[in-house]
Amino acid sequence: MKTLVLCLVILSISQAQGLNPKCETQEHASTLKVFHIYSPCSPLKPSKPLSWEEDVLSMLAKDQSRVQYLSSLVAKKSMVPVASGRQIVQSPTYIVRARIGTPPQTMLMAMDTSNDAAWIPCNGCLGCSSKVFNTAKSTTFNNLGCHAPQCKQVRNPTCGGGACVFNMTYGSSSIAANLSQDAITLAADPIPSYVFGCLQKTAGSSVPQQGLMGLGRGPLSLLSQTKNLYKSTFSYCLPSFRSPKFSGSLRLGPTGQPLRIKYTQLLKNPRRPSLYFVNLIGIRVGRRIVDIPPNALAFNPSTGAGTIFDSGTVFTRLVEPAYVAVRNEFRRRVKVANVTSLGGFDTCYTVPIVAPTITFMFTGMNVTLPQENLLIHSTAGSITCLAMASAPDNVNSVLNVIANMQQQNHRVLFDVPNSRLGVARERCT
Ligand SMILES: *[C@@H]1O[C@H](CO)[C@@H](O)[C@H](O)[C@H]1NC(C)=O
Ligand SMILES: *[C@@H]1O[C@H](CO)[C@@H](O)[C@H](O)[C@H]1NC(C)=O
Ligand SMILES: *[C@@H]1O[C@H](CO)[C@@H](O)[C@H](O)[C@H]1NC(C)=O
Ligand SMILES: *[C@@H]1O[C@H](CO)[C@@H](O)[C@H](O)[C@H]1NC(C)=O
Repeated sequence: MKTLVLCLVILSISQAQGLNPKCETQEHASTLKVFHIYSPCSPLKPSKPLSWEEDVLSMLAKDQSRVQYLSSLVAKKSMVPVASGRQIVQSPTYIVRARIGTPPQTMLMAMDTSNDAAWIPCNGCLGCSSKVFNTAKSTTFNNLGCHAPQCKQVRNPTCGGGACVFNMTYGSSSIAANLSQDAITLAADPIPSYVFGCLQKTAGSSVPQQGLMGLGRGPLSLLSQTKNLYKSTFSYCLPSFRSPKFSGSLRLGPTGQPLRIKYTQLLKNPRRPSLYFVNLIGIRVGRRIVDIPPNALAFNPSTGAGTIFDSGTVFTRLVEPAYVAVRNEFRRRVKVANVTSLGGFDTCYTVPIVAPTITFMFTGMNVTLPQENLLIHSTAGSITCLAMASAPDNVNSVLNVIANMQQQNHRVLFDVPNSRLGVARERCT
């Protein structure tokens, strides 16, 4: 009897930490499946289903702290934004499967285009969740010493008994890790000696449970470590968490990327070389280009101002004068007098509406978003909101963030060697 109970417990734990078996399909070549953390495939979704309002409001609250965090990165402030009230988890929204070590152990790592680092919770980690990479079971694992060349690429490394160790903050969390190396397999691609942070201690609630896969372009990033294989090129198609198949794709490398795609130039901010800045020059609501003060959109490498594409923020944030101009024109076009609010969304309706499209005008590329990328509807259909907000005003915010709801069902291509970012409509399922 006891063993039976134990078996059931082990079974339910292991199911709770891997993908729903129905979603376990083979991945081919260099294309990984991408899952929303709230998708039925994901073991990381909240154990008690949240109501639609709770869902939306919690995503918005997490976004608030993520945008503050991103703004603090560009402004190079040392301040770590701490959310008021209850603890805010702000781990990124999409996960991919990686197999680490020999024999491989599967981890569901969060995808984050605004970070370079990769870290994985390792055995012995204090403060990590129960799913860890057991380094002792991998025959190819090793920790890097302080004199390893890669140790010099880590910010503020220290020498812990000869090992390269480092501390850093991520969102409102702090982490301590060993710099380590092991084989990793992404879809069908083996990457023999991948360097990553092996988490030994975490505090705070921002750390993704099964690790972080940074898709930024800095020195120790996945892109830098796989330059020969993937040529610093990748694209993704993010599924809506309500889409029936619940999975999109992350395609690594130049092979199989769309040929018919519009591009805009990628810009580099020397303060934060890993962020993907683009030049947003205007915003159109329906056919009208709204009146936005140029400095609300301008790229300025010395202040960190500008616009980034980010995979981890859910709802697009515009600096206040830009948001207000867009929202006012949106309301004017919707022509329903009774505007209500829901949490941080200030343009909501309790009657069905016909919404105008919104076009982000980048240098060389206009991206026109249909209703599905602009509106969120409650399950009961009783409330509809414009799914954007103004950037948090308690930081000296200068950053516009094109977020994942606005990118869903589009292929977004990051072509770093040619300094360009492409966008094309695509059904992500
Ligand atoms: C991390 O490094 C410390 C010493 O610097 C060592 O004691 C610990 O075992 C390492 N952890 C792993 C998972 O290798
Ligand atoms: C890094 O974090 C660890 C664990 O919290 C702590 O013991 C150590 O003193 C920290 N090192 C530095 C250089 O801050
Ligand atoms: C406006 O909305 C509020 C709240 O939903 C409702 O109480 C009120 O009757 C509405 N007014 C009109 C004119 O529809
Ligand atoms: C984007 O739209 C604007 C205004 O409608 C137009 O003037 C411009 O030529 C378009 N840009 C591109 C690259 O199509």
